[in-house]
Amino acid sequence: RANKVSNICCIGAGYVGGPTCAVIAKNNPDITVTVVDLSEPRIAAWCSPALPIFEPGLYDVVQVARDGTDGRTPNLYFSTNISQAIDEADLIFISVNTPTKTAGRGAGSASDLAYVESAARHIAEVARSDKIIVEKSTVPCGTAGSLRDIFNALAPSVHFDILSNPEFLAEGTAINDLVKPDRILIGSLTDERSVSAAEALADVYAAWVPRERIITINLWSSELAKLAANCMLAQRISSINSLSAICEATGANIEELSYAVGLDTRIGSKMLKASAGFGGSCFKKDVLSLVFIAESLHLPEVANYWKSVVDINEYQKDRFTKRITKSMYNTLARKKIAVLGFAYKKNTGDTRESAAISVIGQLITERANVAIFDPQVKEEQILRDLAAEHPAQIVRDSVTVYADAISACADACAVVILTEWDHFKTDQIPEPRPDVDLGALHAMDERALSNHHSIASSDSGIDVVDGSADSSPTIKPIVQQPASVKTNGQRIDWYKIAATMRRPRLVFDGRNVVDPRRLASLGFKVESIGKRG
Ligand code: NAD
Ligand code: UGA
Repeated sequence: RANKVSNICCIGAGYVGGPTCAVIAKNNPDITVTVVDLSEPRIAAWCSPALPIFEPGLYDVVQVARDGTDGRTPNLYFSTNISQAIDEADLIFISVNTPTKTAGRGAGSASDLAYVESAARHIAEVARSDKIIVEKSTVPCGTAGSLRDIFNALAPSVHFDILSNPEFLAEGTAINDLVKPDRILIGSLTDERSVSAAEALADVYAAWVPRERIITINLWSSELAKLAANCMLAQRISSINSLSAICEATGANIEELSYAVGLDTRIGSKMLKASAGFGGSCFKKDVLSLVFIAESLHLPEVANYWKSVVDINEYQKDRFTKRITKSMYNTLARKKIAVLGFAYKKNTGDTRESAAISVIGQLITERANVAIFDPQVKEEQILRDLAAEHPAQIVRDSVTVYADAISACADACAVVILTEWDHFKTDQIPEPRPDVDLGALHAMDERALSNHHSIASSDSGIDVVDGSADSSPTIKPIVQQPASVKTNGQRIDWYKIAATMRRPRLVFDGRNVVDPRRLASLGFKVESIGKRG
């Protein structure tokens, strides 16, 4: 094998494989990159203008590499012909899902490596020439050893160099994270061939990443570093969320606390935003995977320490829902509760492990009528996610999904915010003057509110979707289309929501996305995470 990569195959066209290979292909016009998957609909979507995942800026990159929009020869392909792509490649990324095991030893905790194993077996069956195999999936420490065993047993005449190259992108900012990574980690063994394989992979990234950011370390350190990074990020959120409970009980303010603590350069300000609990496909599974590794190594104290990160997250989701129930006189039955946001974070349509699934589950168990709006998540997805975890009949009877926020909130007894979409921000509402009695405004009637609306709207100068101050702008679901979607500047119309909601216009902000004082000036009563109601 020449020490230069000219053909890459990526097994797994998901949230990691697709965007990562699009950026690699765009920056390496001389390398042919083929992303393969077992899922035909997923590959068909990658080949179309309606990509299977929503990610800001992704379509622009795909268009350049896949369609040659800037006049270059296309070098990015998506295919279900896995065998052919393996055969032709000299470097293969394994970027398949590694969920938590659901049965057998380690169920509920250990990583399920079945998809990694099936990808490795497929490679071993097809490969006739030497290959560099790159673990892109997040895997337990030692997985490269298992891959080596599979290749030795199934394809002893082919030489495989196995590298670890974990991915650190976050959804919603994936393109930026890939274009300007903090670091690229490449783990390898220390023999000459392995080091040369690591250099070949480093060259691929060096097309756009400064060399000093490409770190080569020992294979096992690299595998473990990925798990450790996610665990430490999740731990920060659980730390701040545990402190939010103390804030609510004492009158301290979690945002002031995060700010004050984060100014210490040793601590830093990122990942310190209190929430109704972290979600996403990885934090919980990766923390639990580390817990399982520690247990397997007979390190129960270590396992318990990390387990508490997940426990606090479950506690936080539960605590938030109990607060809603308590503030609504412990009776939610037949009350309409509007939920704004279902994705696990803003700027993604991904709902895996979203806090919304647990919080809404508890609301419908209390027999509330839940009205949901998310600008990016489709109705089928929301109903599927809820029915997977809660009795399907109750979901059908209690949940309605709306295409706009105003309809979801009309006649609602409370609004619950579960995703920090910019759309929900309140910056179009003017700051109340310090002398305004916000308490009196809670009783503001619809007439006063609409007067207030026209004055405030003309003052604010904020560009809402439909532009005019007295139309009642609603936002429509965003459809990922050829041009990158611009969501900035779109805001839901809180004036209109105030006019159509039931009093006392309760808002439970699980993301601290709204300004309680501005909403109070429209007669809302806001309860935020980590702040006294
Ligand atoms: P995903 O579920 O979106 O995509 C995985 C894809 O692999 C699926 O489309 C599946 O059909 C395909 N697949 C599974 N087995 C296959 C096989 N044998 N042959 C061909 N295709 C196969 O998963 P993801 O979110 O892209 O995550 C992939 C890995 O990257 C995981 O280990 C995850 O922990 C890690 N990771 C994810 C993120 C993230 O933001 N989602 C970030 C960093 C790391
Ligand atoms: C996370 C990591 O940030 C990535 O580095 C990693 O590559 C990825 O997991 C992975 O391995 O899958 P992601 O889950 O996409 O990325 O998004 P984050 O921005 O980390 O947010 C995760 C969850 O924590 C979201 O629900 C988010 O709302 C929540 N969060 C985040 C908080 O509650 N507070 C914060 O301060 C930050």
